[in-house]
Formats: sequence, C-alpha cells, structure tokens
Amino acid sequence: MFWYHELTRHSYLSVRQNPNYLSWEDQPSVYKHYPESFERFLLDMEDEEDRFLFYSAGLTAKKSYPEGEYYLRINPSAGALYPNELYVQIRDVKGKRNGIYHYDVAENALVLLHALEEEAGLEPYLGYRHAMKGYLFLVSAIYYRSSWKYKKRALRYCLLDAGHLLGSIEASALLKPHATQLCYNMDRGSLNAMFGFGHKEWFLSAASVAVPISHSDVVPVQFSLPYAEGSGSFEKSDVIEEAYEETKVVHSCRKEVRAPKFTYETGMLQQTIFQRRSQRGFTGEAITKGQFHYLMEVLAQPILSDCDETVSVYTVVNRVLDMPLGLYKEGAYVKYGDFSRQAGYLCLEQYSLAEKGALTFFLTSKGGNYQALYQKAGIIGHRLYIAAGYLGLGCSGIGAYYDDEVNAFLENEEMVLYALAIGK
Ligand SMILES: Cc1cc2nc3c(=O)[nH]c(=O)nc-3n(C[C@H](O)[C@H](O)[C@H](O)COP(=O)(O)O)c2cc1C
Repeated sequence: MFWYHELTRHSYLSVRQNPNYLSWEDQPSVYKHYPESFERFLLDMEDEEDRFLFYSAGLTAKKSYPEGEYYLRINPSAGALYPNELYVQIRDVKGKRNGIYHYDVAENALVLLHALEEEAGLEPYLGYRHAMKGYLFLVSAIYYRSSWKYKKRALRYCLLDAGHLLGSIEASALLKPHATQLCYNMDRGSLNAMFGFGHKEWFLSAASVAVPISHSDVVPVQFSLPYAEGSGSFEKSDVIEEAYEETKVVHSCRKEVRAPKFTYETGMLQQTIFQRRSQRGFTGEAITKGQFHYLMEVLAQPILSDCDETVSVYTVVNRVLDMPLGLYKEGAYVKYGDFSRQAGYLCLEQYSLAEKGALTFFLTSKGGNYQALYQKAGIIGHRLYIAAGYLGLGCSGIGAYYDDEVNAFLENEEMVLYALAIGK
C-alpha cells in the first residue's frame, strides 16, 4: 500500500484522538483570479460552446447563511472546498480565439493566459504528436483549500474532486455529443513550471475533448506565467507535497481505448447536470430492481484513459425491491445479509446516508499509479451521481470512512478510495 494512503487512514480512534479544529480566520479562498491585465471573455449562455464550458464546471446554486453567501457548482466537492482549478487549450473552435485559458468560475469567464501560434501547443506535454482540434482541459489542485480542513488526508480529496471535475467534463461533452479521453501520462513538472504554480498548486490530470488534425505536427508551447494567488492563506504540508512529488510520473500504464456507451436523452441529461446536488440524507425507501440494473450498466462502462487502473466497485444492497440484501462485487454476490447498519457505521457513522440509502458503494484498488487510480474513483463517483440524478434518485459522495474496518468488511486488503450512497 502506498505510504501516503496508509498514513491517512481513518479509524474509530484516530478521528477521536485527532479531531479537526478549523481556524476560520485562515479559511482559504475558493476562487483564483488572474490580474485584470489578462484579456477575459464572459461566457455567453446562448452560445453552444460556452454552454459546454459552463456545464463542465460552472456555478449553479447560491446558499445564504448568517455568516455569508456561497455558491455550489456543477461538480460536487468534499466540504464544498473546491480545491481544483480548470485550464483549457482551445484550438480551431468556431467563435473562439486559439489559446490557453483559465476558467474563472466566479466570473464565468475565460481568461486568456497565452494566445496560440499555429504550430505550437500543449499537445506534446500530454503525449499527442498532432495538433488537437477542440478542447484540452488541464485540472490542477490548490491543496491548502482542502488541507485547511482535512489536514494530511486532503490529497485524497483533491484527487477525488479532480475526478468529479473530469466526470463533469465527460457528462457535459455527452451533450455535444463528444467522447472524453483522460490523460495522466503528462509532463506535470514542465507544465507546473510554465504556469508559475510553485509548490502551492499542481496539475493532476488532463482531459481531451478534441480530435487530431492529422497533417499538423505540433511543437511544445513555451511560456512563463506569473504566479497568481489561489487560496489567500496557506500552510505547507510536507506529507502532501511529498506524496504528490512521488506520484507525479506514471509507470507501466495500460491504455483503455474502448469508448463508454450511455443511453441518456440529451435534454434530460442537461437538466440532470444542471440540477445535480448531493442528497443530505435518505428516507429509507427502496429503489427498484430496474433502477439497480441501470446503475450497474453505467458502472460497467469503460473510461477512455491513457493510464487505466483497476478500481473495484462493491455495492451494499440495503434495500432494492425483490432483491436479496447483501454485499455485491461488480454485480455478483459476495455475501448475504442486511448490512445497512454496518454500512452506516463504516462511513464514520453517517447513518442518514449510508444506512438509510438504498445502496452504499465502496471503491478499492491495488493499482500502482495513485493519482490515476484515485481520480478514476472520482470519475466513477461522478457517473453514479449523474445516473442516479437521471433516474430521479439522490446521491452523495462519502470521503470519510474507517479504512481498515471497510477492508475487514469487504474481505479485501486494497486501498479503500471512496464511498457513495444512492437512494430516495
Ligand atoms: C469526494 C467527496 C467526498 C464527500 N464526502 C461527504 C461526506 O463524507 N459526507 C457528506 O455529507 N457529504 C460529502 N460530500 C458531499 C459534499 O459535501 C458536497 O458535494 C458539497 O457540499 C457541495 O454540494 P453539492 O454536491 O450539492 O453541490 C462529498 C463530496 C465529494 C465530492
């Protein structure tokens, strides 16, 4: 097991011995803004391409509390801390200037960081030889936004949230429709340096919603951006920085070239993406067998990726009409019984989610590329959110669980990456 994962396991004792006290005066900002000197283009919701970007990562809801207002987004995020930033290279898209942009989510604007010359681009950093027509997204993390609350476990959340953002891009691209190809075999070191990130922000992954222009070879673009503050406050975490450095380069990757097939109707999918929220608690009502099989079908779809790691999905059936209760792995029985109470306990006693939901999922892996496998868990989680929403069901990600006790329950020794619950 990767040392970082082992070090950041929760147990019944650890969460009681090391409670997280939040220092509110150090609360980091969740928005990054480049200086006004950078040209910016507000997204126009009447424009199809701009809508594609908005449906990948935009702000969709406002919450008002006595201490202030905050906004929720297309993508879910552990603790609504939104550690990830989104950058995109746009090439040969109607109505858009070729360039590398930052998506300023608060302004709903694309900020031009670097205008592209015909023969240069980000492609070589992502392993592409030819120029790519369309969108090449880069996902980064500003880890202190998450470690402010989750301390050294925060790298897990940065990766899961990044996976959700990749999943949001994939879902938004389905509206076009266009396939999304994940890229982990990227030159993170050079990209981090060019974007002026220092050690506070770094790239985790890329996603291509683009096609190669076969006659057009491309050279690596070179530029040097000034550092732009992304969290306000900051406190260094040696553990997180070391874990990132050690996992920066991927090894022995297996490509997944099979494209997923989804049966979503475009209008309903768009509504599902726009209205997605995390359900705060379930009623304890059962779902139907048809709904269960629909979710299993979605889970069985491959994820296009240049570094595909095996992630196992365990499902605890708490209540599905006409189905025996128990633990399943990839749709097949592991053991019979009503484990709903136990599922609730394992998720740090979040009984209203993991006991009262109809299904509780646990995702595990023993893969070698930590950044790739963890983000894959986030993508799977996002596919579950979308599929559940599409069926009129609720979903919630669950990043907090007792790692070792989940292993004992599943009777496996893999790294436990993520839990989710779906229900009514
Ligand atoms: C990786 C991850 C872990 C999460 N863990 C929990 C959790 O343990 N308990 C919980 O109630 N919600 C959890 N959530 C849900 C978030 O609190 C929620 O996404 C956030 O507040 C934003 O709200 P929204 O999803 O409705 O937009 C998690 C979400 C993600 C993406």
